[in-house]
Amino acid sequence: MRKPDPTVEILSTGRYLPDCVVTNDDLAKRMDTSDEWIRTRTGIAERRIAPDGVNTAHMGANAGRAAMEKAGVEPGEVDAIILCTSTPDHWMPSTACEVQALLGCTNAYAFDVMAACAGYLYALSVAEGLLMANRAEVALVVASEKMSTIVDWNDRATCVLFGDGAGATVLRKANGSGRGMLSNVLRSDGNLSELLCRPAGGAAEPITQAVLDGSRHLVRMEGREVFKNAVRNMSEACDLALKKAGMTIDDVDLLVPHQANIRIIEAMAKYAGLPLEKVFINVSKYGNMSSASVPVALDEAQEEGLLAPGTNLLTVAFGAGLTWGASVIRW
Ligand code: COA
Repeated sequence: MRKPDPTVEILSTGRYLPDCVVTNDDLAKRMDTSDEWIRTRTGIAERRIAPDGVNTAHMGANAGRAAMEKAGVEPGEVDAIILCTSTPDHWMPSTACEVQALLGCTNAYAFDVMAACAGYLYALSVAEGLLMANRAEVALVVASEKMSTIVDWNDRATCVLFGDGAGATVLRKANGSGRGMLSNVLRSDGNLSELLCRPAGGAAEPITQAVLDGSRHLVRMEGREVFKNAVRNMSEACDLALKKAGMTIDDVDLLVPHQANIRIIEAMAKYAGLPLEKVFINVSKYGNMSSASVPVALDEAQEEGLLAPGTNLLTVAFGAGLTWGASVIRW
């Protein structure tokens, strides 16, 4: 099979993590849990929690600014801002428009994409389409999540898993250097939406006192089912993305997976036959930052010298919806 030409190129990455570190021991002081339980089940040691006043848009703008500075892109040069989040600051307008204002990207159109933890791969794909259709020359993809505002702090089985943070990337059309996105696979299964959701608080069941009393506006999850679906679907997406890129797992230099749980990551790597030395893992520091996990990991991997030009990167994510996807990128 002929190998595809790269479509779009990631020019730079950026991240923002709130300063406040909350350890497992901190959580154990407020609820019936322990560092040992959380570490052995998830690999998480601590997470960041954004204070009041540091919102999804602020974190996203900080990550976006960092990425733009690295790329040497001025605010006026950005044509499109695509922001993914499960924690928009407002239901109207989009958080992307707030980020646009904070960054001063006055020439950009801006909108949100909602695909939970897989949101970054969805947003990348949307950016790819816009760039390839000449609807933009420079696109900024931002993933920003203030998960601490939507988890149920009385549900120890979910609240310990999540954290706050933001990541961003600047993209443009590939310029023939051989670098860029080689494949992108996206999938959804709305039949399984109840496995991971916020049952109320939207148009179907607006906020009422009964909703608040029952915490139906907060995240609910069937952990075990989500776990099984995550491993199976991400593994299949990786296979498909590699096939579309004309590659096998042996061609992969680095896998950057969604950082939800070390056991999910290890199971996937085992299925794929990829040694853990080739897998970037930072879940212990941040927990699950939903869509921000992958771009934050990319930024850290780049900083650690793991993403030199020419590196074959496989990235994969999974989340509520259900939604999932994978992408092969020559860095
Ligand atoms: N601390 C201590 N005990 C806890 C706990 C906590 N934070 N959370 C749950 N428990 C208890 C449960 O109450 C249960 O007790 P019981 O046996 O007395 O009823 C026990 O631990 C086992 O619970 P269970 O849900 O079966 O654990 P598990 O091994 O499936 O692990 C998860 C739970 C959530 C860690 C695991 O299912 C998981 O990681 N799922 C995927 C979640 C995820 O990553 N979602 C996001 C995807 S984008």
